[in-house]
Amino acid sequence: MDDYSPPVDAPGGIAAPARPAHVRSGRATDLAIDAHGIGVRYNLRFTKKTTVRQSFAHLLRRREGPQHFWALRGVTFQVEHGESLAVIGPNGAGKSTLLQVLAGIIEPSEGQVEIRGHVSSLLTLGAGFDAELSGVDNILLAGAFMGIPDREMRRRLPEIVEFADIGAFIDAPLKTYSSGMRARLGFSIATAVDPDVLLVDEVLSTGDQAFRDKSRRRIEELIQAAKGIVLVTHDMGWVTTFCNRALLLERGQIIAEGDPAEVVAVHTDHMEQVRIEKEAEAARLRLQGVL
Ligand SMILES: Nc1ncnc2c1ncn2[C@@H]1O[C@H](COP(=O)(O)OP(=O)(O)O)[C@@H](O)[C@H]1O
Ligand SMILES: [Mg+2]
Repeated sequence: MDDYSPPVDAPGGIAAPARPAHVRSGRATDLAIDAHGIGVRYNLRFTKKTTVRQSFAHLLRRREGPQHFWALRGVTFQVEHGESLAVIGPNGAGKSTLLQVLAGIIEPSEGQVEIRGHVSSLLTLGAGFDAELSGVDNILLAGAFMGIPDREMRRRLPEIVEFADIGAFIDAPLKTYSSGMRARLGFSIATAVDPDVLLVDEVLSTGDQAFRDKSRRRIEELIQAAKGIVLVTHDMGWVTTFCNRALLLERGQIIAEGDPAEVVAVHTDHMEQVRIEKEAEAARLRLQGVL
């Protein structure tokens, strides 16, 4: 299960800016998300994490190795309003990249994605919070990002504050928050704003048990309110309990799609195969060391 440890920069929670709704008029369709042939190509030479020294080394070795790689390729799927789709897969499969495309944070290198309605997303922390502003001001700011009128956001404020349940910290600058508190505030905002489409990436494992139970109930409410949900999680219990469809991503491609229990079974099977192969390899290396 090693492959399931969340990436270091993962959980947090923030209501990212809403993507403008592309509503096609005159078409009777209930699609919340229509993704066709999505591909995301990362440049390996100058990514965010590259240091000057690494860049220089890359320049020297320019002709060696690939310059870019496809984190996603040929990803086509639809989500109808009222559906909740789980996206599962090993670390590095492209799950977060896919959600960032759906949230409008990353422009796909190829393919098209159409989202109908208001999108609210719980992706990585820091995508929208301002560390100098208080919790309350960040709530109002998030609302502005999502195109929600200020008056409406102020009406929802007490409910958001109550759900986040971070006491007097709500008036303190965000930089004084623990990561758990940020996550709670992010979750509270993103799920309080009545989104048509909710994107959730690995944030359900954050916080203490009480908050997790509360989050679980809120997701249940959202599902019952027939909102479209795309959920990335390593908790297979969530997948089979709350999602009506699942999609397995491996190396940027859809490997299986359909009934959650069946897709989870394929995934579990693949992970077990990987584990066995790793063990065999380790045993082989140990043996070579001995010989
Ligand atoms: N900004 C980036 N530049 C280059 N490669 C990236 C970047 N972000 C992610 N990747 C790579 O893309 C692949 C998919 O990453 P990600 O979408 O985070 O996978 P997952 O969420 O399934 O663990 C991984 O191999 C990862 O290392
Ligand atoms: Mg991820």
